[in-house]
Amino acid sequence: MSINKTDLIQKAKKILSNNLRAGFTIPTDGLYPFQWNWDSGFVSIGLSNYDIDAAFSEIRSLVSGQWENGMVPHIIFHSQNETTYFPNWDFWDAAVNPGAPHNPKTSGITQPPVLGFVLEWIFNNHPNSQKVFGFVKEMYPKIVGSHRFWYQYRDPHEEGLVFIYHPWESGRDNSPLWDDALNTIDLDRAKLPIYKRRDTTIADASERPTSKQYDQYVYLMLLGKKHGYDGQGIVEESEFLIQDSLINAVLIRSNESLIKLGKILGEDVGQLQEWQQQSISSYGTKLWNEELEMYTGYDLRHEKQLPYREIGGLTPLFANIPSAEKALKIKSYLETLVNNNYLLVPSFDVEHKLYDPKRYWRGPVWPQMNWMIYNGLNRYGYTDLATIVKENLLELVSRYGFYEYFDAQKQILDTNHGGYGGDKFSWTASSVIDLILSE
Ligand code: GLC
Repeated sequence: MSINKTDLIQKAKKILSNNLRAGFTIPTDGLYPFQWNWDSGFVSIGLSNYDIDAAFSEIRSLVSGQWENGMVPHIIFHSQNETTYFPNWDFWDAAVNPGAPHNPKTSGITQPPVLGFVLEWIFNNHPNSQKVFGFVKEMYPKIVGSHRFWYQYRDPHEEGLVFIYHPWESGRDNSPLWDDALNTIDLDRAKLPIYKRRDTTIADASERPTSKQYDQYVYLMLLGKKHGYDGQGIVEESEFLIQDSLINAVLIRSNESLIKLGKILGEDVGQLQEWQQQSISSYGTKLWNEELEMYTGYDLRHEKQLPYREIGGLTPLFANIPSAEKALKIKSYLETLVNNNYLLVPSFDVEHKLYDPKRYWRGPVWPQMNWMIYNGLNRYGYTDLATIVKENLLELVSRYGFYEYFDAQKQILDTNHGGYGGDKFSWTASSVIDLILSE
């Protein structure tokens, strides 16, 4: 199908301006009415192509919620008038940690550490601007502080690999990756507070996590709260402690950016380099799975790799982690998908029994993931495949609109509607803008 790129850009900009609130952008109206961490990172990359002040404001609003321990929370509740999202600021009660800001209110967990590479993207879009240089200088120590948080609180064995204790931190809420660990939780429903989900009143329940998963999410959230969200008790008690492939690849990619920017700013980058070296080396040895021919996560509580092919395992390309030989294996995984009539990039192994083409992170294509994998494939010189990753996304958006995620099965394109979840989605818009404008 022919894709009208000028039209796509216009529509995408309109979505971002409609989703703009007081200085920050919500992911989509209704379903996600606050500021989300990594969503805002991608949004500011998109914005930096045409409205640099809006890109600055996006990031400044996000870090206004940073905790004293360095953590940038996964949600910033700038306004308390919205009632369409659970769990809200009261339920999180971040004040259990004395280093959480009173204003704005925030959640108690974090998300993929994208800000380092986001800062580099913004800088590269305007390498000669004094204003951008000033912004990079202002943000740099805050973002380094957020990396210090990861290494200090989330790497108990000092391996250079950080853990998450909640699926929401991974950014891939209900991926089948988490099922095994979540199912080791001995969940007593009667001990959970009564709560009311809001998401299934807005989006189709068949495209969202199940109610059992939601109980598990609430359980882990309360476990975090019990320990002030950063206490040692989390490592001791949580059944869910995962060294995630995506979190660690993004951290490494952002370290790389902070090292580059730090040198330009004249900062001492010794600590970052030390973290970086150890992280890259542990990633290669601990997270590569020879049988799957792909990277995967590691379950720190149950001391085993997660035996699944999943989209996070492709993100090391973006961080330049794989050797040429390993990169080739990842490339052939993607080529097989193309040959088998799938649009790139499904979020889970299409041949696995847990693959679900509609349900959120259990199969569909996600725009911001395509953005990272596109850039990763280009780093390795796989430009043809990178172009497919980009064009597939543009085709999906042209056909269905700027949805949150999409069906990966090519054969349904002409017969069904293949855009799922929230509509007029911000990171879909910003990914489209950046993919087209950086051509
Ligand atoms: C969902 C996604 C997460 C995203 C959030 C807001 O929770 O899984 O990655 O940040 O929605 O879009």
